[in-house]
Amino acid sequence: MKGVAFTFFVTGVVAVVFGMGWGLHMAASGDHAMAGAHAHLNLVGWASFALFGLYYHVTPKAAASVLARIHYAVALAGLVVMVIGIALTVRGGSELPAVLGSLLTAASMLIFLYTVAGNGLGGEMRG
Ligand code: HEM
Repeated sequence: MKGVAFTFFVTGVVAVVFGMGWGLHMAASGDHAMAGAHAHLNLVGWASFALFGLYYHVTPKAAASVLARIHYAVALAGLVVMVIGIALTVRGGSELPAVLGSLLTAASMLIFLYTVAGNGLGGEMRG
């Protein structure tokens, strides 16, 4: 695994390390207020990013496109802004970052839909 596939996968691993740490902190403190932010960091950050990475690994044609890098940039911005935004909202702050992050995350999935529709799944393997 290399290139954008590896970048997606490693980002997912980093996200779940932080997400599990956050979960352990919630469990130890008994304060579960951040459960929603924790859940999104793990499910969007780990589950989705890891799946994106595996997809690009088995579909090199898609991974080679500029759109794959745009996909990563939009997905990462969406994840960071959404998770911080959910945490801010829980603490009584503005909902704007959560809304913006959600829209970026949704946009990243639309980019992925376009990618899958255009390239399918699988293809000649590289490295
Ligand atoms: C060390 C690992 C983890 C710990 C200690 C942990 C801990 C927690 C805690 C304390 C809660 C709040 C439960 C409640 O208030 O009812 C929670 C909720 C949740 N966690 Fe985790 N978690 C871990 C890993 C994960 C992972 C890997 C995922 C997903 C891939 C995940 C997804 C969720 C979801 C979906 C919720 C429910 C959120 C909600 O009700 O708003 N967690 N977790």
